[in-house]
Order: sequence, then C-alpha cells, then structure tokens
Amino acid sequence: MALLHDTFGIDVSIQDRFGGPDPTSMPFAYFDENGICVANFSAFSMPMMIDGRLVAAAGFQSGAVRPEWRGRGLYRDLMRRAFNWCDAQGFERGLLLTDKPALYEPCEFKILPQHQFSGPPPVAVQPIGSSRTLSLDNSGDLALVKRLLGERTPVSSIFAVAAQMEMFLLNSCFDAGIRLSYLDHPELVVAWKSTEADCFQLLDIAGRIIPPLSVLLAVLDQRPSCVEVCFPPDRLDWQGNPEPFASHTSLMVRGAAADRLAGPVMLSPMAEF
Ligand SMILES: CC(C)(COP(=O)(O)OP(=O)(O)OC[C@H]1O[C@@H](n2cnc3c(N)ncnc32)[C@H](O)[C@@H]1OP(=O)(O)O)[C@@H](O)C(=O)NCCC(=O)NCCS
Repeated sequence: MALLHDTFGIDVSIQDRFGGPDPTSMPFAYFDENGICVANFSAFSMPMMIDGRLVAAAGFQSGAVRPEWRGRGLYRDLMRRAFNWCDAQGFERGLLLTDKPALYEPCEFKILPQHQFSGPPPVAVQPIGSSRTLSLDNSGDLALVKRLLGERTPVSSIFAVAAQMEMFLLNSCFDAGIRLSYLDHPELVVAWKSTEADCFQLLDIAGRIIPPLSVLLAVLDQRPSCVEVCFPPDRLDWQGNPEPFASHTSLMVRGAAADRLAGPVMLSPMAEF
C-alpha cells in the first residue's frame, strides 16, 4: 500500500506473488476526502507457542500516519480501536516490533529482551537423506514451502510462531543472504545463513518434526566453527549461550507473557513483521 511505501520505503506488493496478504489482517485506517489512506494500524492473527502452551496472539504492524496528519491523535485512536477489537476477539497476547517503544508503553506493552543462542557445533553425525536449495521464484518450490509452513510444528516450545506463512515468505525476499533448503528426511524447510566468521546461523525450521541440530548440519553438509540459533533451541538437542540480540527494533508484548517466560527468547527473524 502507498502509505507503507511512502513511510517505510518497503514494497509489500511482492506478497502478490505468494498469494496475497495475510487473510487474517484487520486494518484500522483513516482516509482523506480523496480516498487516500492517511493513517493505518493493522492487526493480524499470529498463533504462538509460549512456554509449552498454544496462545492466541495478535501481531500489530503497518503503523503509520502521513506527515501532514501527525500530532492530531489519529494513531492513538487507531491503536485504541485495534487493541479493543483484539480484546473482543479473544486474543490473549499482542506482539509488535518497534523502534519507538515509548509509543506503546501506555497501552500495556512491555519490552521482551531478545537473545540469540551461540556455541560450538554439536558432534558431527552421518547424514540421513539429502538436501537441495529452494527458490521462491520456482512455483513448485513455493508450493512446497507453503505446504511445510502449513504443517509446521513450532520450532521451539518456549517461544515460536505456531502458524504464519506470509511473513516467512516476505522475509525470505527481503534479505538476499537467507538460504532456504529442503530436506527430504524428515521433510523440512530450513532457513539459514553462513556468516563471514564461519558461523552457521539458523533462522527457522518448518516441518512436522524438528530434528537435532547435528542432523541438520550433516544433511546440509555444513561444518562451521560456530553456530548461532535465532530462536530458543530447546528442540534441537543442543545448547547455546544466550547472548543479547542487538537490533534497532524492540519486541514488545501486551499481556502478562513478558513477566512469566521461563527462559530467554527470540522471535525467529523469519517471523519478523
Ligand atoms: C509514530 C506515528 C505513527 C505517530 O502518529 P500520530 O498520528 O502523530 O500520533 P498521535 O498524534 O496519535 O500521537 C500518539 C501518541 O504518541 C506520541 N508519539 C508520537 N510520536 C512519537 C514517537 N516518535 N515516540 C514516542 N511517542 C510518540 C504522542 O505524543 C502521543 O502521545 P499521547 O497520546 O500520550 O498524547 C507517526 O509519527 C509516523 O507515522 N511516524 C513514522 C512511522 C512510524 O514510526 N510508525 C510507528 C512504527 S512502530
């Protein structure tokens, strides 16, 4: 939409290639007398696994007001309407990523500090099955990724998206360094990167079964000197040291989740919104 392009310089029309925007998206907006959108704030459904429990969570995104309309309370009003709507719909938690946390603190949002998990690779094992690189430009590969995203088990039982497709696909396009690999046994899509420091950076895994990290590295034929996992690694049969994740945006949570989490967390970069 033009407001997002003009405000953030991002082109979300790429989503049309993947089947369009998230059908759960619920925009709250103001338009001027010419029908131009001047203010927007959208909610969408993002079921999460949090501390072993499936939680009905809403994500909030696309918050912007055109410069000439700012400072008149439009955004405060859209936030109020969106949060009230989510409460009425029965969402238990709200999540957002922002570089302006002060904007949301009066609305019961708290910063959830993020940590990535680093450490030496696990002991090498023999590969089972094979892998190949996927391209979202290939319609067969796109259908495969969508199917596995639809069947996915949350990548962590502590903090992970349980079901969300559109942001994974969009984020794959926003960063050319992200590699998507298909593993055939068990069937998985693995989103990962190789850093200059010979580190294997694991961003996300989509499939019915989450295998040990050692199995992933063997099938991907990766022998890095270190591993960074960008989500809690409780299902990977590997432990890393949590390290504060440096980012220009803060993850914020509305509801009691921020006080109750059992351990350090990170929202997979593939789920960023
Ligand atoms: C941030 C933005 C959406 C605010 O829109 P707005 O219509 O001017 O906001 P409102 O007039 O409704 O003001 C809402 C409140 O936010 C506060 N606020 C405005 N800009 C703020 C900022 N940058 N940081 C913290 N608080 C801010 C206002 O003081 C006001 O507080 P109050 O309700 O206690 O009086 C607008 O400036 C914008 O589009 N900025 C660029 C895009 C952006 O940063 N979007 C937010 C992404 S998370």
